[in-house]
Amino acid sequence: MKTRITELFGIKHPIIQGGMHFVGFAELAAAVSAAGGLGIITGLTQKTPELLAKEIKKCREMTDKPFGVNLTFLPSFSQPPYPEYIAAIREGGVKIVETAGRSPEQYMPALKESGIKVIHKCTSVRHSLKAEKIGCDAVSVDGFECGGHPGEDDVPNMILLPRAADELKIPFVASGGMADARSLVAALAMGAEGMNMGTRFIATKEAPVHENVKKAILEASELDTRLIMRPIRNTERVLKNAGVDKIMEIEREKGAKTTIADVHDLVAGVYPRVMLEGDMDAGAWSCGMVAGLIYDIPTVKELIDRIMAEADRLVRDRLERMVAA
Ligand SMILES: Cc1cc2nc3c(=O)[nH]c(=O)nc-3n(C[C@H](O)[C@H](O)[C@H](O)COP(=O)(O)O)c2cc1C
Repeated sequence: MKTRITELFGIKHPIIQGGMHFVGFAELAAAVSAAGGLGIITGLTQKTPELLAKEIKKCREMTDKPFGVNLTFLPSFSQPPYPEYIAAIREGGVKIVETAGRSPEQYMPALKESGIKVIHKCTSVRHSLKAEKIGCDAVSVDGFECGGHPGEDDVPNMILLPRAADELKIPFVASGGMADARSLVAALAMGAEGMNMGTRFIATKEAPVHENVKKAILEASELDTRLIMRPIRNTERVLKNAGVDKIMEIEREKGAKTTIADVHDLVAGVYPRVMLEGDMDAGAWSCGMVAGLIYDIPTVKELIDRIMAEADRLVRDRLERMVAA
């Protein structure tokens, strides 16, 4: 399939694996890129720029296809050395960066001088337009369904994607709630040039996370995610568990007076315990409503090939037949 996104990034299929904390290691990014999509290493999961350089090198040894690095600018408990991370990306010869969280404006000159293409992930039309204005090459439009941080506007993709299509000149991919060929074809119909998946890629053979995490996603339905940290305007969609119940109890009790300190121990440092050790009740970890559409644990290649083959059938058989009639 050829879209503005496959052309921009030099990939075969318009499918991107979004950066995911303690999931987006070289193993997953390389598997996605080798299968014709765009794999992305999560920059800040690597504790130092030196470790990121090693992860990039490892990924390069696993695939000769293009892959990217995610840089997340979220309110974080300690400010990471972003310029050094960008230097590691540049020196590692990576030509694609997915930015997310706050606007990447401050870092655009450094990224662009290095010939890096920037796809900014954001949750509203106004932030997408801002990304276009500051020189981003593309955006990943993340609807309210998404795993992770959906922002505070709560606009689902059935509205957000066509709105983005009405306003943007740069290409965009649909993100949030994307699972299969139906998601891809619908996203293309609404004006996107491809799709970005997070949660779906965790439930694959290559995702380097504990089996308990994959099992939890398989068992979850579309009703099992919760929104936390709303009172501090840092909303995150996570999978319900005992730790998340505790967070919600604290937020119910403290209401608008909730501070990050109140929930800190249940949201900070949780990822290694969940993703590496499989402690599923440790606290909050991002998960999309799309868990309800995930029924198996294929290899990344099986997943991507299936999506592309079924998308073809959907368009040629179902849609074309309907239109022809
Ligand atoms: C476990 C997990 C961790 C994530 N970590 C990050 C992150 O560190 N940075 C980021 O930009 N997005 C992160 N995301 C968001 C994804 O990149 C992607 O935008 C989102 O998962 C899309 O929604 P979906 O899960 O419905 O596919 C994370 C998502 C998940 C599920």
